[in-house]
Amino acid sequence: MKTAAIVRILGFSIFGYFFLNWIGSEGETSVFVEQTWVWAFLGALMLFYIAFEVCLHAFEKIMYRTLSEERQAKYDADMALAKINQFKWFKDTYKKLLGSKPIEQEGEIVLDHNYDGIRELDNKLPPWWVYGFYATIIFAVVYMARYHIFDGINQDEEYQIAVAEAKIEIEEYKKTAKDLVDFNTVELLTEAGDLDAGKTIFAGNCVACHKASGGGGIGPNLTDDHWILGGGIKNVFKTISEGGRAGKGMVAWKSDLKPFEMAQVASYILSLHGTNPADAKEPEGEIWRDPLAPVEEVDVEVIDSTKVQVIIEDQPVTGDVVNDSIN
Ligand code: HEC
Repeated sequence: MKTAAIVRILGFSIFGYFFLNWIGSEGETSVFVEQTWVWAFLGALMLFYIAFEVCLHAFEKIMYRTLSEERQAKYDADMALAKINQFKWFKDTYKKLLGSKPIEQEGEIVLDHNYDGIRELDNKLPPWWVYGFYATIIFAVVYMARYHIFDGINQDEEYQIAVAEAKIEIEEYKKTAKDLVDFNTVELLTEAGDLDAGKTIFAGNCVACHKASGGGGIGPNLTDDHWILGGGIKNVFKTISEGGRAGKGMVAWKSDLKPFEMAQVASYILSLHGTNPADAKEPEGEIWRDPLAPVEEVDVEVIDSTKVQVIIEDQPVTGDVVNDSIN
């Protein structure tokens, strides 16, 4: 087969590969990795295309046979000429860009000094180099005007913009990939839709031990300040996902609930905080304080030079002043 046909087939398959990749791929992963049958599809397509090329070639042959001998000779001559001129444009442009004189004309540019038979040609600078040089000058002028005179954005601003864009993309991504949460990344959900979903999950799985009110039965009270395994969205999520202490009856729910469902039910539980249901169980565990919560306002009241009163979260603490610190 002719080289042209092979080049066409190769080109077509490369094009086909990128085209299918472009229309089929989601995000970063290629459709050829995710759906391997696409390879078979591309292969079938290529088989059809090769068959088409073969038919075309056969058809050309038949047509050639039908020509008279004279016309055949002319056709051959035309084809030979076309072959010679095939890459003419490229060759010509390449020569022009080099700007060198053909060897027959070198006599015109030889300089008149001669060192032991070594002579020098006064070649012109190659045009590709000269135009490249002009391009850098133009670039420099534009660059200087844009960034030093007209205050174009600098690297820092570019960085800030890129970060802001990335943040938006992350938000978008989180929306489509909700189930990627784990106890490190989970955040308290506050939207009514999520809390309702959490309530449904709670009613379906948890009320047997924690009661519908969350007040506790076999399991502890979930509405008070006390937590056995730690409060706050991250700990509660972790408890639901991994389960409680061995043998206590709180199993790991990660195989029954999706990560996002666990986030919903965890958020629902936290929304019950402080509801004080009538039949609530006694508190168990420790009072939970969020280590990441902003420090409450601290009021310091000086009583006299030896005593101060510090009010932390509305609870006054009185102490003596010793070495500028409070005991
Ligand atoms: C078979 C009974 C049972 C079921 C069902 C159950 N739990 Fe529990 N849960 C417990 C027990 C018992 C504990 C205490 C675990 C411990 O002490 O380690 C507990 C602890 C917890 C805690 C931690 C409380 C703390 O004080 O740290 C959370 C949060 C919790 N459960 C949520 C849920 C959720 C959400 C569900 C439903 C998806 C659920 N539980 C289903 C028995 C249950």
